Amino acid sequence: MKTYTAALIIAMSLVIGGCQSFQSQPDNSLYLQLGQRDGIANVVEDMLYLIVDDERINHQFKGINVAQFHRNLTDQLCELSGGPCQYSGRDIREAHAAMGITNTQFNALAENLILAMEANQIPTTAQNRLIKQLLPMYSDIRHL
Ligand code: HEM
Repeated sequence: MKTYTAALIIAMSLVIGGCQSFQSQPDNSLYLQLGQRDGIANVVEDMLYLIVDDERINHQFKGINVAQFHRNLTDQLCELSGGPCQYSGRDIREAHAAMGITNTQFNALAENLILAMEANQIPTTAQNRLIKQLLPMYSDIRHL
């Protein structure tokens, strides 16, 4: 009987331990490294200033709704980095469909994002992690 009870306790603790690891929180470490939603909003704002001065891409952004772009990109980066936001903008492929974005323009935007993160003292490891999250969108934006 004693052996049976001990075996039962061991089995139950294994099951409970297993459940705990399944219930572990999603990884929000990148979101925290970026300074949460406020930090991301600052990065996006600085990126917008850089875009305005960047002859390679500023023509694409003429006449856009800046507040909407800022809100939607901030929410998107917040969600992608594991934060508690929900992107509610347009489908990314549709939003960029008519722009004819070139490789040079894609790289220019990524460069401006990195410079904006640099200006906001975002650690290089976090910069790389965010860029890694964005790279799969290349084919939706660039329309290969
Ligand atoms: C990984 C790269 C990119 C990401 C994650 C991204 C993300 C976004 C997001 C979230 C929006 C807002 C959509 C909405 O408001 O519904 C947007 C809009 C826009 N994007 Fe991008 N984008 C990227 C690359 C580019 C590039 C390379 C260009 C041009 C050089 C560009 C030009 C624009 C423009 C002009 C808008 C505003 C469209 C409008 O409001 O009519 N994007 N982008």
